[in-house]
Amino acid sequence: MTMRAAVVALSGAGLIACASSASTTLAPDAGGDATSDVRDARDAGGVREDPPPPPVPPTLAETGLYEDFAAKRLSKGVVAFDVRWPLWSDGAEKQRYLYVPAGKTIDIADPDHWAFPAGTKAWKEFRVGGKLIETRYVEKTGEPPIGWRYVAYAWSEDQATAVAAPGGVRDALGTTHDIPDQAACEQCHSGTRDGIIGVGNVQLSDGKTLASFTSLGLLPAVPAEYRVPGTGVVQEVLGYLHGNCGYCHSDVGRWSTARGVRLRLLFAISDPAKTPTYLTTINVPMSHSDTDGEPFIGVVPGDPSRSHLYQRITKRDFWAMPPVGSEVVDEVAAAKVKSWIEGLPR
Ligand code: HEC
Ligand code: HEC
Repeated sequence: MTMRAAVVALSGAGLIACASSASTTLAPDAGGDATSDVRDARDAGGVREDPPPPPVPPTLAETGLYEDFAAKRLSKGVVAFDVRWPLWSDGAEKQRYLYVPAGKTIDIADPDHWAFPAGTKAWKEFRVGGKLIETRYVEKTGEPPIGWRYVAYAWSEDQATAVAAPGGVRDALGTTHDIPDQAACEQCHSGTRDGIIGVGNVQLSDGKTLASFTSLGLLPAVPAEYRVPGTGVVQEVLGYLHGNCGYCHSDVGRWSTARGVRLRLLFAISDPAKTPTYLTTINVPMSHSDTDGEPFIGVVPGDPSRSHLYQRITKRDFWAMPPVGSEVVDEVAAAKVKSWIEGLPR
């Protein structure tokens, strides 16, 4: 997708008054794809350079997920879990697993950013049409920033083997599902304070998981259940944006200096109007501008077509948000965000 095409795509959605005068000031100044833009934004923010990723086990069988690989029987201590606000992965079905070394617990002192003991491992398997396509793997080998290794294992057609695919796989097993490369894992996972994204207070507050993790010895004490602020569509949108965007758009991690938009829910805040999501988007100018040099507005109450946040989640080109990991717009979520914006008091 060229810059100009991206501009036209945006103008089609009503953001830009005059498509024919498309100018480069509209687009972030680098590259032709969102991924390179993300890298440039990171560099502009002066965030660290990454060391080369540590080597990973060559096969899934060597990661410790299964005690019996052929029978797919889980190892002792591996716990299956779900998250309350899953990442949209173009409709793929997902199953997640966590392992915390025996005798160690997750540090939950900061309810917004849990920290994990060295030796923690997590896996997430992806199925399309019932078939296992990939199993993603993260392991904490030491302390950040160099302490995490990430890779996806690509399953064979006969589902008998799963081999490390550090460079990713396009259209794996003849599906439209792309397996991300290690750089993509890093881009998302190093947005957090400590490598793992979905294991935290907001995502596990489903009325049962916090207690079961504690009784299994993963947590030192049962943390207070978190309730997403608001009701109805307000609550759903805040939760969705936390799960799908808040790991990058937060005050910690790789992207904290890149942009001011914050979409992460914080434990102490229970009023929607006081969430960083509301405070950093509603009537707030963004860093990109239209052809007249007027900055886009994050969220314009009552007007999705002029709301940059809504425009970005309905794109899968240069402007796509999230910038990696998805090729298909999450239409159900986009409709909710639209109705949330329409319902905001002007
Ligand atoms: C678009 C951003 C994105 C990319 C790219 C991405 N992840 Fe994740 N990952 C997430 C989010 C968000 C979650 C938590 C929500 C969920 O699981 O639905 C997650 C969850 C996981 C989990 C479960 C443990 C946890 O952190 O919650 C594993 C394991 C994982 N990812 C591994 C990987 C690996 C390995 C790669 C690269 C091959 C990768 N991910 C690429 C965003 C991403
Ligand atoms: C992998 C990290 C990452 C994820 C995930 C992500 N973003 Fe972003 N986002 C960025 C970066 C980096 C920028 C700045 C570069 C740009 O504008 O393209 C940005 C820019 C933005 C902007 C424009 C901010 C400005 O000041 O111009 C909006 C709005 C936005 N993101 C919304 C979202 C939404 C909504 C989601 C979830 C659906 C999301 N982002 C997911 C990294 C991310």
